[in-house]
Amino acid sequence: FAEEGRGVWRYAASLPFESGVSLPEGDTPLHAVPRLEDEIGTRTLRIKHEGMNPTGSFKDRGMTVGVRVAAELGVGRLACASTGNTSAALAAYGGRGGMQTLVLLPAGKVAAGKVAQASLHGARILEVDGNFDACLDIVAELADRGEAYLLNSLNPFRLEGQKTIGFEILERYQADYGRYPDRIVLPVGNAGNTAALYKAFRELVASGALDAEDVPKLTGVQAAGAAPMVEAIEEGAADIERWESVETRATAIRIGNPVNARKALPGIRKTGGTAVAVADDEITDAQRALASEGVGVEPASAASVAGLRKLREAGVVESDEDVVCLTTGHLLKDPDAAAAAGTEPEPVPNDTDAVLDHLRGE
Ligand code: F0G
Repeated sequence: FAEEGRGVWRYAASLPFESGVSLPEGDTPLHAVPRLEDEIGTRTLRIKHEGMNPTGSFKDRGMTVGVRVAAELGVGRLACASTGNTSAALAAYGGRGGMQTLVLLPAGKVAAGKVAQASLHGARILEVDGNFDACLDIVAELADRGEAYLLNSLNPFRLEGQKTIGFEILERYQADYGRYPDRIVLPVGNAGNTAALYKAFRELVASGALDAEDVPKLTGVQAAGAAPMVEAIEEGAADIERWESVETRATAIRIGNPVNARKALPGIRKTGGTAVAVADDEITDAQRALASEGVGVEPASAASVAGLRKLREAGVVESDEDVVCLTTGHLLKDPDAAAAAGTEPEPVPNDTDAVLDHLRGE
């Protein structure tokens, strides 16, 4: 299953191995969205679409490394708590590596595409009567008791793989424009990507490959109903306060206890970034805007664009900035949200003249 030198593994020099359990992952598009760029009003706007990974989310970048580590250790059972995408990726990569997978999901709060993936890729799925944070508490305890190998983003090898998002963005941007983006805007759940991107940039600076002043401002976006990181940034706190009760249409980031907060908060602060909360309707508007330019993303992903729009309107993001928004998961992950945000199918008779009449509004 080794995939040397492709996608994520092109950056093996910064990873713990030369190759991993791979499908392969990474090398995702950096889309131009000229209408949205014009409407929001930044110098440039590009969309790094992580939904184009093998299982439809950025999680694959972490799993290719994490599952390789698990194989190296010879563990029997891989496990994660998940709002959906991690479970889909774990099931696929665990299956690829020939390992058993166990996933704990918050009952009734995971989008249909993600449960379908975990199921068909062969994970044992436990639906917990509680939110994601409760699922993670349980899985972390199972791991502590030696019952499973944990592959949530608490596992540092996951973040090693996710660093490559940052490498790809900088490389592509430099190739297209001869400079680096000023800012990267990303949705925040457990803040794994925020921590991973910050680590990627620190390593580049330490190696002399990137000047410290060229590090993009990391800008996190949360749903208003699940925004402990935004609260911590606004209050200047060293750590987050866990939110016991969370709610948002963007179920992927319905998280009240971001476990990577202590790694991610310095990343936001030291790069000169910020964090902002957006309402569910703002998320859906952004999802529609992206889709109208052909970029299909799930709600949590659209939060990045909704956040950028809000920060631009507030004058926090300036008109001369080069911005990249990270979209973390594919539209098909949450078909129900997509259908609800899109146009209604119109029933018509089985007859061409009747169809024409209907089209003319008769
Ligand atoms: N976007 C999507 C589509 C996600 O699935 C997640 C996290 C995030 C953003 C947040 O990323 O944790 O690095 O800040 N999903 C996890 C899961 C929790 O279980 O699939 P983060």
